[in-house]
Amino acid sequence: MSGAQRLDWVSRSATALHGDVIVPGDKSVSHRSMMLSAIADGNSHIRGFLEGEDTRATAAVLAQLGVRIEAPSAGERIVHGVGLDGLRGSNQPLDCGNAGTGMRLLAGLFAGQAFDSILVGDESLSKRPMRRVTEPLAKMGAQIDAQDGLPPLHVRGGRKLHGIRYELPVASAQVKSALLLAGLYAEGSTEIIEPHPTRDYTERMLQAFGWPIEFSPGRAKLEGGHRLRATDVVVPADFSSAAFFLVAASVLPGSLLRLPAVGLNPRRTGLLEALRLMGADIRIENQGESGGEAVGDLVVRHTALHGIELPEALVPDMIDEFPALFVAAAIAKGRTVVRGAAELRVKESDRIASMAVGLRALGVRIEETPDGAIIDGGAIGGGTVESHGDHRIAMSFAVAGLVAREAVTIRDCANVATSFPGFLELANDCGFALG
Ligand code: S3P
Repeated sequence: MSGAQRLDWVSRSATALHGDVIVPGDKSVSHRSMMLSAIADGNSHIRGFLEGEDTRATAAVLAQLGVRIEAPSAGERIVHGVGLDGLRGSNQPLDCGNAGTGMRLLAGLFAGQAFDSILVGDESLSKRPMRRVTEPLAKMGAQIDAQDGLPPLHVRGGRKLHGIRYELPVASAQVKSALLLAGLYAEGSTEIIEPHPTRDYTERMLQAFGWPIEFSPGRAKLEGGHRLRATDVVVPADFSSAAFFLVAASVLPGSLLRLPAVGLNPRRTGLLEALRLMGADIRIENQGESGGEAVGDLVVRHTALHGIELPEALVPDMIDEFPALFVAAAIAKGRTVVRGAAELRVKESDRIASMAVGLRALGVRIEETPDGAIIDGGAIGGGTVESHGDHRIAMSFAVAGLVAREAVTIRDCANVATSFPGFLELANDCGFALG
């Protein structure tokens, strides 16, 4: 969150949640749609674009580099693509706000440009590790200066890039995507191998924009020297935003919610499986495809949840959903054990620590481990928790408040606007008592 505004929420217990909840567009898809449209030949029409601070920051950066972007209505963008080499340098820093996805992908995109760029971010983003992108990009011939591997990133222009074969040390769609975007400008082929498959939106969207690419779960390969053709993009509703409502309706007795047309890319839906293992009743209806992505309505009813040993294989497929899962685990009967999730420590906040401190303040027994947590479910009390500037922590504690014995005050919630503008109103419309 780039502003200095502070906003606290109070979440109180509620009776039951009901109705349809239409969650906003997918953040990952929105970032990518804007980037690829910007460097395509022709005009692309994006529908369902996330009107969040993160994705708007990416659009603003590209506008600063000369891309004309019209916004005829909320969630709609017409992007006048400038072609692969049409971006113009700016002598001002490019502000990615809170967005790790924005900064890491743009670092890849800018590594092969003729001009220098300086990517900056807010306080939280300025603490996030960037060596994971700068090091492999350097192997491709890029030069990116970053003190101690942290933002700001000074991406030097005029470098000749060459393709590499790179085995990612950690499963990361952001790193994979940064390298693929740099690969568009590289001589020869760029091949990425992942230790576990991650979301493949960049691969799918490159294909939709007409760039030849080979990909299968865990691997992607493309060559430089082609062009992107403008296309229309329909952004599905964000599973990660739906996640808060999946947990909320699961834990609050009497609840029944429908979340229409949510993106169900299998690399995103690990939480669905985890909640089902805990006993949740979540059904998928009207399954289909929209803009090349699997979508469906999620129908969730309250059931009593029980703790689980979370299968480690699910971790990359639910990497953004752990704050919500921790709340489910805190309410479930019995013990939940999470392992293999050390990446949570380098998200918008250290999500293991943020959740552990907050849940403990609400009387939950939770033990932090280096790569996860052990949570003993039971009753949630009231109290005050910090969001640590992290949107997903704020929304997760809003869910905890629904079933807490006393009010839960959540400090510093303005950051929710980075990914989920309108969360408070949507939540209250279906039965939250959040203000
Ligand atoms: C994202 C990838 C994930 C995720 C982030 C969005 C993406 O990050 O946590 O919210 O759009 O590629 P990592 O690549 O760091 O796992």
